[in-house]
Amino acid sequence: SEQYFSDVVKKAIRTVPNWPEEGVMFRDITTALQDRTVFRKLIDAFIHRYHHLSIDAVAGVDARGFIIGSVLAYELNASFVPIRKKGKLPFDTVSESYELEYGRAEVEIHKDAFQQGDKVILVDDLIATGGTLLAASSLIERLGADIIEAAAIIDLPDLGGSKKLRDKGLAVYSVCEYA
Ligand code: PRP
Ligand code: ADE
Repeated sequence: SEQYFSDVVKKAIRTVPNWPEEGVMFRDITTALQDRTVFRKLIDAFIHRYHHLSIDAVAGVDARGFIIGSVLAYELNASFVPIRKKGKLPFDTVSESYELEYGRAEVEIHKDAFQQGDKVILVDDLIATGGTLLAASSLIERLGADIIEAAAIIDLPDLGGSKKLRDKGLAVYSVCEYA
């Protein structure tokens, strides 16, 4: 069942208290990626959810969104578009700045990353305050593409990010939650 799958994934994720700063419970997906069975099932879950939707592109957020995003794009026969931290992309970009659970950041995308009306899945590993995915989604929309869903492995609902994204009209999917 979906609940069983979510529990398997949660068991495979490592929690590191007080990293990168005091009071943060860091949800570390590297242990889930290391487990080949869990890694495969995670990718399969995303493929199963989106394969029938004629997705044109998967946009992955720097850096952990690249891991799931590129494999998903390959399996969906879609293109992969990196949304990067400021100063990494070499060509003309649009950018958005946003607040994090710990700090501030700015994300960028290449201006020619999409065709008008492209159907896009936006992927990251985790939703905390939602600032990253909100900034990323605004970049995608500014370029004239359509976000079919924002997807993550983990949602931290207490930080309000997934609610904020849904309130803005975005469809949001996560495999598991930590409350
Ligand atoms: C983490 C995570 C998400 C973001 C979620 O990345 O991978 O991208 O925070 O937080 P939010 O919902 O409050 O925006 P981080 O900015 O730590 O960068 P990293 O991928 O380079 O570790
Ligand atoms: N990004 C923001 N908050 C996080 C957390 N608690 N664990 C992992 N990544 C995060």
